[in-house]
Amino acid sequence: MVNHFLKLSDIAPEEIQPILDRAIALKSGATSNALAGKSVAILFEKPSLRTKLSFWVGTEKLGGNPVHFAPEEVGLGKREPVADVAQVMSRMSDVAVIRTFEQSIIEEFAKNASIPVINALTDAEHPCQALADTQTITEQLGSVKGANVAFIGDGNNVAVSLGYAVAGLGGHLTVASPDGYTVPAEDLEGANTYGAAAGGSMKQVTSPQEAVANADIVYTDVWTSMGQEAETAKRLVDFDGYQVNPGLLDQASVNVKFMHDLPAHPGEEISHGLLYDSRSVAFDQAENRLWAQAALMEKLIQS
Ligand code: NVA
Repeated sequence: MVNHFLKLSDIAPEEIQPILDRAIALKSGATSNALAGKSVAILFEKPSLRTKLSFWVGTEKLGGNPVHFAPEEVGLGKREPVADVAQVMSRMSDVAVIRTFEQSIIEEFAKNASIPVINALTDAEHPCQALADTQTITEQLGSVKGANVAFIGDGNNVAVSLGYAVAGLGGHLTVASPDGYTVPAEDLEGANTYGAAAGGSMKQVTSPQEAVANADIVYTDVWTSMGQEAETAKRLVDFDGYQVNPGLLDQASVNVKFMHDLPAHPGEEISHGLLYDSRSVAFDQAENRLWAQAALMEKLIQS
């Protein structure tokens, strides 16, 4: 049976910490040849900086060969059926890393692939980001267990995967979103079930102030995700009052750290300069994509 990573809960809660520990070890200089002689096909239907760079460099660090396809090159499901692309990639490469739109596309891809498939962002989840995020929280706080994490903004892909990861590690995620942008009910329930044994939780509120009270981490993401650009004007109105700025951070725990998956839109979800605030760990978080994904690929290829 092939191991895919299409959503955070494709790994068991107790499998997360070993991946993070391995990511931290790789970051500290441990080496690996897990992908020696192997190729990783990286196919993106949306723009990317961190994800492309981190999978490319991470593959090389594990001794493998990355092969990247830009959005216009393949035409997944348009120029060629998803199932056929999956079969061809499975014949010539050893891991497929896919960034696309609906979750159903990557699920169809995985169903037709005989190699591990990794979700490099869909509209529903961004599970690799959540591994890097929880690695960052581990580095900052020593552990995710018992941590209070506040996510301010859209309850979509980044918030959902973060909720599963934080809850699975025994932490508590509170998401503050305006009406119409809350975390899907099945994921709220799913993350709480996933995190139950570890004592973790995920909850939804409306007020950013309520979410940040006692927060060790305050996290936000763009208000307009890739593919939603036509809704930008409406979203600017709907998310008014949800900006993370120094004043909001001042209402959190005294040692609060600020996180953002990037790219950021200063003046919208964050105030100008917040990425460079002494409380920001956004660039550590960006770097951790490299190490978390290297640890993930090592695990998937070896199991
Ligand atoms: N929610 C954002 C994340 C970007 C990394 C998006 O989907 O565009």
